This record gives sequence, C-alpha cells and structure tokens, in this order.
Amino acid sequence: MKMAWLSGRGRWGAASAGLLAALILTFGAPAQAQVGIATTKHNLGSGPGLAGRNQTTDTAEICVFCHTPHGADTAAPAPLWNKRLGSPGVPAGGGSYTTYDTLQTPSLDGTIAPVGSISMACLSCHDGTQAMDNIINAPGSGGLLADGGGNDGRAFTWTGSTVNAAGRLSSGVALLGTDLSNDHPIGIQYCGGGVTGSGTTVTANCKDGDFVTPQTAVINSNQIFWIDTGGDGKQRTDLPLYTRATGGLGPMVECASCHDPHVSKDQPGPASTGKVAGDTFLRISNASSAVCTACHVK
Ligand code: HEC
Ligand code: HEC
Ligand code: HEC
Ligand code: HEC
Repeated sequence: MKMAWLSGRGRWGAASAGLLAALILTFGAPAQAQVGIATTKHNLGSGPGLAGRNQTTDTAEICVFCHTPHGADTAAPAPLWNKRLGSPGVPAGGGSYTTYDTLQTPSLDGTIAPVGSISMACLSCHDGTQAMDNIINAPGSGGLLADGGGNDGRAFTWTGSTVNAAGRLSSGVALLGTDLSNDHPIGIQYCGGGVTGSGTTVTANCKDGDFVTPQTAVINSNQIFWIDTGGDGKQRTDLPLYTRATGGLGPMVECASCHDPHVSKDQPGPASTGKVAGDTFLRISNASSAVCTACHVK
C-alpha cells in the first residue's frame, strides 16, 4: 500500500520535472536561478543579496558566520561549527533559558531537555546574547580565537535594522531571546515521550498515537530518526529528529527539525521528493500547515 503510493508519487515527481523543463524551454529560463542561502537573510556578508538585510562590511563570505573548514569547535552539536556556544542549557553570552515546559500545559507528554543539540547553534545568534561576528576562525590567514572574540565578537561593522552596533540581534521577531516559553517546544522528546522498542524496530512504537511514526536507520553506527515527507530515503526536505550523546531522551525536535538554515523560499528539494522549501527557512512549504501535520496527527 505504502510502496504503491510512494512509487506513484515518484512518477508524478518525474512528470512534473519534465513539465518544468518543457516550460523553461518554452518561456526561457529565469535570468539567474536565485536559490540558496546567498539570497536569504542568512547571507550576512557584504556581497549581493537581499536589500536592507543585516550584513557586515568586513567580509563577503557567507558560510564563515556558522562554519569553518578548519579549527571548528568539536564540542558543538552542529557540523564544523565556527561560533562559541555555551554549555547545555546556558546561552553563549551567559544567563539562562526559560523553556516551554515552564508553562505547564497539561497536555505536554514529552520531557524537555536543557537547550542543546542543534538548537544551541541557532540560538548562538537568535538569543541575542552574543554578536553574530563571534567567529572562531575569522576569514583569511591566521585569525583563530578559541572564544571567537567573546560576547561582542570581532568588532565588525554592521548595517541593518535589527542588529546593534556590536553585531547582536537586538529587535524584531527573529530575536527569540532567552525566554523560549512562547516558542514551539525544542529539545522536546518526539512521540509524546519518545519511542519504545530498540534498534531499527522502534519505528512502529510511538508512546503516544498523536504523532506520525518516525523513520529510523543506522548510519556509521549512529541511529538516526526523521519524519518522512516523501522521496527516496532521508532527504533535506524530511524533518530530522535529533539524539544527544548523553541524556538518552531522543529522538527530539529541535530548531533544525522544521528549518533548514540554507534554503530560500520555493527552492526545489531533491527531485524524488517533489517538495519545495517554505518561506522562513522551512524544510517544506507550510501551505495547508504541512509542516505541522508532518508530525502531529491532527
Ligand atoms: C546561519 C548559519 C549557517 C550558515 C550561514 C551556513 N550554515 Fe551550514 N549548517 C548550519 C547548521 C545549523 C547546520 C546543521 C543543520 C542540520 O542539522 O541539518 C548546517 C549544516 C550544514 C551541512 C551538513 C548538513 C546539510 O544540510 O547538508 C553542510 C554541508 C553545510 N551546512 C554547508 C554550508 C555551506 C557550504 C554554507 C555557506 C554557503 C553554509 N553551510 C552556511 C548553519 C549554517
Ligand atoms: C550567524 C548568526 C545566525 C545563526 C547561527 C542562525 N541565524 Fe537565523 N537569522 C540570522 C539573522 C541575522 C536573521 C535575520 C534577522 C532579521 O531580519 O531580523 C535570521 C533570520 C532567521 C529566520 C527568519 C527568516 C526570514 O526570512 O524572515 C529564521 C526562520 C531563522 N533565522 C532560523 C534559524 C535557524 C533554525 C538557525 C539554526 C539552524 C539559525 N537561524 C541560525 C542569523 C543567524
Ligand atoms: C515545530 C517546528 C518549528 C520549530 C521546532 C522551530 N520553528 Fe521557527 N518557525 C516555524 C514555522 C512554521 C515558522 C513560520 C511562522 C510564520 O510564518 O509566521 C517559523 C518561523 C521562525 C522565525 C521567523 C519568525 C517570523 O515570523 O518572521 C524564526 C526567526 C524562527 N522560526 C527561528 C527558530 C529557531 C531559532 C528555532 C529553535 C529555537 C525554531 N525556529 C524552531 C516552525 C518551527
Ligand atoms: C518535527 C515534529 C513536529 C512538527 C513539525 C511540529 N510539532 Fe508541534 N510538537 C511536537 C512535539 C514532539 C511536541 C511535544 C508534544 C508532547 O510531548 O506532548 C509538540 C508540541 C506542540 C504543541 C504544544 C502541546 C502542549 O501540550 O503544550 C503545540 C500547540 C504544537 N506542537 C503545535 C504545532 C504547530 C502549530 C506546528 C506547525 C507550525 C507544529 N506543532 C509542528 C512535534 C512537532
């Protein structure tokens, strides 16, 4: 049943790709396919991109505000991470987080872990406690500083309406701050309290039937989990769930379960998925609340 549905989708995906190619041949390709991070608010460099966005005049690089090819923080939960992070539960610039469970909604089943995993990486800019130019390995020769320059970073020059002179997010809805109780829970166990079973047989066993059953696989001896949104195997349009080295609460929902920090609105996903990215870095379009119903049986 499921296989037939999937292969049916595959054919539609191929058919619509063919149609798109035909349309492009007929009407001519757009001047330059404007997709990817360079066209988004996550391009903080001085190069071309969105007018009026927060940006610095000190470098035209894009990836450097998050990743470095060398000298990365290996304790960070994000790959080749180039920014200072706090220890779990502690904002990079100090203080503490207020988590969603402090609201004590009676319906919440899962346990919330201290802010950690990939969400810490997002919050290292979005909580506003440290400058966005806090970077461990600055562009160019030399320039390695283990603390990334501290709370005020590298003293880059910034322009933009929601960044202050020191380079911190200072206003606007993207400044989540350290009070996360008004945000969708993160560091929250999936399946209303986690999965039961072990190894790759856990998939059919959500603790709570209100959730779509996750997929699982073992890659490089690590068990990974994701919510399938279509296509072959795990794709960037699927919603990843995260596990932590310690704590044993996984799999959990984190910022990057719903968001892919690199995608521009309507950016096509891998062909077999037939999906496009949503606005605001959403892994899939949220039309018909598809992001929400990918997880919640509602
Ligand atoms: C605003 C921060 C940010 C910027 C800028 C950024 N990344 Fe990332 N990147 C992340 C985070 C966070 C993750 C982990 C996401 C996850 O768990 O899927 C990641 C993951 C990745 C991965 C591995 C997972 C994947 O999606 O393939 C690659 C490769 C990558 N980034 C490359 C790049 C490159 C190349 C650039 C510059 C063109 C870049 N990134 C710019 C934040 C960023
Ligand atoms: C290097 C700093 C930095 C990091 C790290 C970072 N962001 Fe951002 N993000 C920004 C800035 C700057 C903006 C634009 C803020 C504004 O316009 O007010 C932004 C905007 C956004 C937006 C709104 C986009 C829009 O079009 O309105 C989302 C969603 C977002 N980020 C999610 C994330 C997630 C999820 C992560 C981690 C995977 C992340 N960010 C990591 C700096 C960062
Ligand atoms: C369960 C899914 C989910 C999780 C987890 C999640 N987000 Fe979002 N986020 C969304 C959706 C959906 C939107 C779009 C809301 C809208 O259109 O107003 C959004 C919007 C945003 C925006 C833009 C707000 C605006 O209205 O302009 C930012 C910034 C953002 N998210 C950052 C984060 C960060 C940082 C985290 C982790 C601390 C996170 N998100 C976790 C689903 C999620
Ligand atoms: C990646 C999976 C995932 C996605 C996507 C997702 N959620 Fe959730 N959501 C969860 C989990 C897990 C919980 C915690 C539920 C629990 O433990 O009872 C939760 C909790 C909630 C709660 C709070 C429940 C309570 O008892 O306090 C609300 C409301 C909610 N989600 C709405 C949304 C909306 C709206 C969207 C789309 C914008 C969304 N969710 C997207 C997984 C997800």
